This record gives sequence, structure tokens and C-alpha cells, in this order.
Amino acid sequence: MFILNKTQSIADNFLSEIRDQSVQHDRLRFRHNLKRLGSLLAYEVSKDLQFTNESIQTPLTETTVSVMSDDIVIISILRAAIPFGEGFLDIFDKAEVGFIGAARQEANGNEIEIALDYKAAPDLAGKTLIIVDPMLATGKSLVKSINKLLTNGTPKIIHLASVIAAPEGIEYITKNLSLDFRIWTCAVDEKLNELSYIVPGLGDAGDLAFGPKL
Ligand code: URA
Repeated sequence: MFILNKTQSIADNFLSEIRDQSVQHDRLRFRHNLKRLGSLLAYEVSKDLQFTNESIQTPLTETTVSVMSDDIVIISILRAAIPFGEGFLDIFDKAEVGFIGAARQEANGNEIEIALDYKAAPDLAGKTLIIVDPMLATGKSLVKSINKLLTNGTPKIIHLASVIAAPEGIEYITKNLSLDFRIWTCAVDEKLNELSYIVPGLGDAGDLAFGPKL
């Protein structure tokens, strides 16, 4: 697992702003910070990808350059992942893009169930799949989304990218996913609360980015 804030960097400022109640209500800034964190994390993911040497012609001479050879598909889990996914797409600008809708529903007391609806995704067979979900809380929406996405083919590897992850979600994913995957996150927080929100966390990422829904 890669954790961005294990090393101090400007990413800490962006994380601080999305968590801070006195700043996070500025939706434009909140979305922009998610996007910036997406780009920083995408750069880290790129170090794990495959590269090949190619010959190119500069205005002065022929030379050999290294270029990324993975076929990347970025899937954003709606709706909170839209700004974070934009940050990934800024870096992986040739990636194919897909979306899947996952909504939390409370069932049997405090147990969280996930309802999947909209799916628009390309062929995934042999591709490098990056699934972006800013809040890795219970891990249930990720596992359910991945199972639905696999009907589009089996990817070469799955990279799971989040802004904040909870230990419970990381454990759930590790126990319930059998495919080759890696977790990339900007921070790992302390725990989930009784409503399955990440603590200290930041609140509801979708509402902060786009406003409360009915
Ligand atoms: N989704 C959010 O937006 N926040 C959390 O803390 C957990 C899930």
C-alpha cells in the first residue's frame, strides 16, 4: 500500500484544507484540492507502471526515450470521485474513462448496504484499471463495483486510489478481492464511526464537492 502523506509535501496542505471545516465549505476549493491530490497520486501510480524504449527524432538528432506502455482505464465511482478522477485524467491524458454509480443505503440497523446503478465502462481485458473513490470507508462499494466491472473483462492489475482510507475498509478489501490489486491513498485515518464515516475524515465528500442531495 502506498500512503502519500507518509512523506511531508504540499499534499499535506491540500489534505488539511479539505478536512478543515473553516475552509472545506468553499466547494470550488474543495473540488480543486481533490483534483490536485488526484494528480499527485496519479504521478505516484505512474512509477509502478510499465515503460518501453522508443526511438524519436528531435529537431537535432534521433534519440531513445522511455514511454509508458500500459493501456489505462480510469473508473470513477459516482458522484464524489468526479473531481479526484479529473486529477488522474490530467496526468493519464490518454486513458479510457468509465463511471459506476454506488449509493450507500442503511439496512438492518447500522449495517451499510451498497446499491449499484449506472455503469458505463470500456473493455477491461488486459488493461491497467485505476478505480478512484476518494473515501475508502467500509470498502463495500469498491468490492461491489469491481465485481460488476469484471463483466467487462479481467484487467491486468487493479489500482485502487483514495484520498482518505479507513483501516476497516483496507481490511475488507484485502479479504474480499482475489485479483491482483494495489491500494494508493493520500492518508490512512483512525477508524470508522457508527455511521461508517471516516474519523477524523472530512465529512461527506460528495456533499462538500457538489452540495447536499435530497
Ligand atoms: N463517504 C464520505 O463521503 N465520507 C466518509 O467519511 C465515508 C464515506
